Amino acid sequence: MTVTMHMPRIGLGTWCLLGEQATDVVTQAIELGYRHIDTAPRYDNEAAVGAGIIQSGVKRSELFLTTKIWHDQLSPVAMERSAATSLENLQMDYVDLLLIHWPSTDSNWNMAASLEALVKIQQQGWAKHIGVANFTVPLLQQAWGIVGEQLAVNQVEYHISLQQKAVLGFTQSHNMMLTAYCPLARGDLSQFPVLQTIADKYGVTAHQVALAWLLQQDQVAVIPKASSCEHLHNNLQAAQLQLDAHDVALINALPKNIRTIHPDFSPAWDV
Ligand SMILES: NC(=O)c1ccc[n+]([C@@H]2O[C@H](COP(=O)([O-])OP(=O)(O)OC[C@H]3O[C@@H](n4cnc5c(N)ncnc54)[C@H](OP(=O)(O)O)[C@@H]3O)[C@@H](O)[C@H]2O)c1
Repeated sequence: MTVTMHMPRIGLGTWCLLGEQATDVVTQAIELGYRHIDTAPRYDNEAAVGAGIIQSGVKRSELFLTTKIWHDQLSPVAMERSAATSLENLQMDYVDLLLIHWPSTDSNWNMAASLEALVKIQQQGWAKHIGVANFTVPLLQQAWGIVGEQLAVNQVEYHISLQQKAVLGFTQSHNMMLTAYCPLARGDLSQFPVLQTIADKYGVTAHQVALAWLLQQDQVAVIPKASSCEHLHNNLQAAQLQLDAHDVALINALPKNIRTIHPDFSPAWDV
């Protein structure tokens, strides 16, 4: 049985935020109105992120918290251990979303065993929803064949300069959310002057335009990382910006082949 997921469409990415800074940024973000936070064991900041949530004083039930399981921990035993350690570090009883961070590179990987272990973790109440990250369409098709509609999310790199038509087509047609990571293409948008032209028209920033372009697409959420109050605030405000069809077409016409995250354990990406 699936449970309806209420994932706020703007979340805070926390990769590269560590220690006290991570705690303070998370608290500040929640004070500004963020209700969705993304972390992972790999970011080495779960304890700091959890502390930031607790420090905010906002009720746990009002927040949507995502963590993940690294790709070398995908045996059922290791997955359960990873999830338990995450909860301990976060000082939480559950997360809202638990993702397989990357597909395994092991040619003998038993995806069914990993996904069934994820479902078991969900059933024991440690995760309200489950999903994957960095899954291509063939991997999504395989995963859907195993757990079907329990698969709530695919988190992938997606921004104004990277095409994700195939993955988005799959997630939209299967009622899944696509969470766009690196939604600001890691921050430097200066090579796309058209964004500034559009931003000037609305009196906003190029970064807000980049986020609004994503948010105007059905079943897409964004998790920009920011560390200054100004950036945190601006990113949250991007939800108020409505781009017109002409602006959307200008952004659609930008080159869409710039992938910033491509480790040697990546799957063969969709084109
Ligand atoms: N599942 C995965 O495999 C995966 C992979 C990568 C990332 N992620 C998740 O996605 C999140 C976001 O991706 P990311 O952190 O790589 O990149 P990003 O969110 O695209 O970009 C972050 C950069 O943009 C800057 N920035 C943020 N808001 C801004 C604004 N309004 N104006 C100007 N600059 C701004 C930040 O600077 P300041 O810090 O100075 O504000 C930072 O340098 C990660 O933090 C992580 O949670 C997941």
